[in-house]
Amino acid sequence: MVTGDMDMLIKLYDLPAAPPPLASDITVRKPIGPEHDLVTTWITEHFSRGWASEAGVALANRPVSLFIATRADALLGFCCYDATARGFVGPIGVLETTRGTGVGAHLLRACVTDMRTIGYGYGVVGYVGAADFFRKVAGAVEIEGSSPGVYGGMLRFPRQ
Ligand SMILES: CC(C)(COP(=O)(O)OP(=O)(O)OC[C@H]1O[C@@H](n2cnc3c(N)ncnc32)[C@H](O)[C@@H]1OP(=O)(O)O)[C@@H](O)C(=O)NCCC(=O)NCCS
Repeated sequence: MVTGDMDMLIKLYDLPAAPPPLASDITVRKPIGPEHDLVTTWITEHFSRGWASEAGVALANRPVSLFIATRADALLGFCCYDATARGFVGPIGVLETTRGTGVGAHLLRACVTDMRTIGYGYGVVGYVGAADFFRKVAGAVEIEGSSPGVYGGMLRFPRQ
């Protein structure tokens, strides 16, 4: 049973079936340089400075380890890996009004597929807040005894 702060493990070599296609006007891709500040600002506004900090790490990786979902000029969501720590996937966040339409599944899928391609065998979801989502989309399983894990003693912004 996931308590809300455990880590989960994803077998990158044994992922569940891919989610159904997204609406044709939605694109999942990596951002290019001029978009990086916009992405981290958006994450701060919609989620938290801590998640924006993690996204900053992913955007600084080469190759970049962050995907965004867009519709026309609107940012709908993001997911990254190798941000919290090496081999970790997340954070992931989708615009509230867009949730439940498959965007999160495609963003997570893009990250775990990329991780597998670059040579990882497993991915770790840290401090899971939506366990059933990760279980369903990526077959994630709980890691016993993983709380607080790598987050133990972490510094936090006052109002997070
Ligand atoms: C979790 C989150 C990224 C999911 O994105 P989404 O675009 O709504 O997800 P999808 O529409 O692709 O859903 C894929 C499947 O997971 C399920 N699902 C989505 N969010 C879920 C949740 N929070 N708990 C359980 N199941 C969830 C959906 O019902 C769907 O299942 P279905 O195919 O049977 O309908 C989004 O709800 C979000 O941004 N939440 C706030 C941030 C957050 O909690 N991030 C995770 C921190 S560990």
